Amino acid sequence: MASEKDTSSDQANSLWGGRFVVGPAEIMEKINASIDFDKILYAQDIRGSRAHCHMLMAQGIISDEDGTKILAGLDQVREEIEAGNFTYDPALEDIHMHVESRLTEIIGEAAGRLHTARSRNDQVATDFRLWVRDAMDQMDQALKGLQSALVAKAEQNAHVILPGFTHLQSAQPVTFGHHLLAYFEMFTRDRDRLRDARGRLNECPLGAAALAGTSFPIDRFQTADALKFRCPTANSLDSVSDRDFALEFLSVAAICAVHVSRLAEEIVIWSSAQFNFITLSDKFTTGSSIMPQKRNPDAAELCRAKSGRIIGALTSLLVVMKGLPLAYSKDMQEDKEATFDAANAFSLIIAAMTGMIGDMTVNETSMRASTENGFITATDLADWLVRVLDMPFRNAHHVTGSLVALAEGKGCDLDGLTLEDMQTVAPKITGDVFSVLSVESSVASRTSFGGTAPEQVLLQVKAAKKRIE
Ligand code: ARG
Repeated sequence: MASEKDTSSDQANSLWGGRFVVGPAEIMEKINASIDFDKILYAQDIRGSRAHCHMLMAQGIISDEDGTKILAGLDQVREEIEAGNFTYDPALEDIHMHVESRLTEIIGEAAGRLHTARSRNDQVATDFRLWVRDAMDQMDQALKGLQSALVAKAEQNAHVILPGFTHLQSAQPVTFGHHLLAYFEMFTRDRDRLRDARGRLNECPLGAAALAGTSFPIDRFQTADALKFRCPTANSLDSVSDRDFALEFLSVAAICAVHVSRLAEEIVIWSSAQFNFITLSDKFTTGSSIMPQKRNPDAAELCRAKSGRIIGALTSLLVVMKGLPLAYSKDMQEDKEATFDAANAFSLIIAAMTGMIGDMTVNETSMRASTENGFITATDLADWLVRVLDMPFRNAHHVTGSLVALAEGKGCDLDGLTLEDMQTVAPKITGDVFSVLSVESSVASRTSFGGTAPEQVLLQVKAAKKRIE
């Protein structure tokens, strides 16, 4: 809350206060300060400053003597931050001003030369890109781990049969390995999107200065190279006002979180007593304080819910950016918290999901039993009528519908009908039809590329193992 006091300090800011007479209102300091959240950018900030300093020295813009002092001072600032004995002060706004201010305390006047040919605008754009680039690399590694867990589980369950659903109604039998590999495909596309976005991110804004470039003879290729960017960004106005890299990171994270959420939803359904397709261990469930029988899939539920935060972060940054004129506006400081929070939520859900996949017990008998109602091999019967009796598929569909109605009336499944029963509907039907009515023969027959047959699944597992790399 703002207090009655309307100035927090009588002193104007020492880094930019030349023309200011009094300090900011307390509420101004509060709304303006980002240090509480941008302090995690310290390593990127110091790395960027070191690259800038080396370049200024190489170009003869600052002396070697000053440059050497600056480099040593920056190292000391990093050590102090990492050792936890660094003092943060909201009056110093952000991490960039904290680092420079402490550098001044350590090395004196030479610190003031580091900001030559640079602005906080290109500085923060660089720091944030470096941070998001690391986050993308971590995201990729995490997804790789999740894919490995899915492939391992799919291999063990290539032959396990469960109902495949459309509209959550039993549709056709599928194999559990096949079902898990569907998620492998989603995470493969997420990793592709990530790689693609990283390629576009990987240009260096440092040297764009405030917005227009600089009159100093800087070498932007040198700093880009030192920070492992592919090249410098091409337009200084765009460099300081672009946050596409964060938007792309968040959109990949949001799409991926939706995939995680769908899988989480299936885990919630599968682990219910009504389905009992899987059992989650004590490691990923909680009990109820009142109902002793409960084993709640909290980790899965939270994976499902956290997709909301990640989608929210994307929406929030899109809205922040949408009305901004070129070039930098302070609105852009609002890019960070949402991105950091989303990255944190993302790493939690991927780790939890990887754990749950590895940990779950697959209840093969329940899955199999659940295929025994719902006339799940009706399509196989229709296909048999087409293949053996040469019926047009539409007729076969109709005949099969009548056979389902007949079975329903008799309270049995399709393979519970006698041949005579069937012949009342389709006189030419033969006993051979029974060979396609079991769920085993149904899945075994679906050998088309990408299909659910166990032999196909094992081929897909083999290919997936190669594609993970
Ligand atoms: N803390 C600021 C941010 O995150 C740094 C850039 C400030 N630039 C400025 N012109 N005030 O966006």
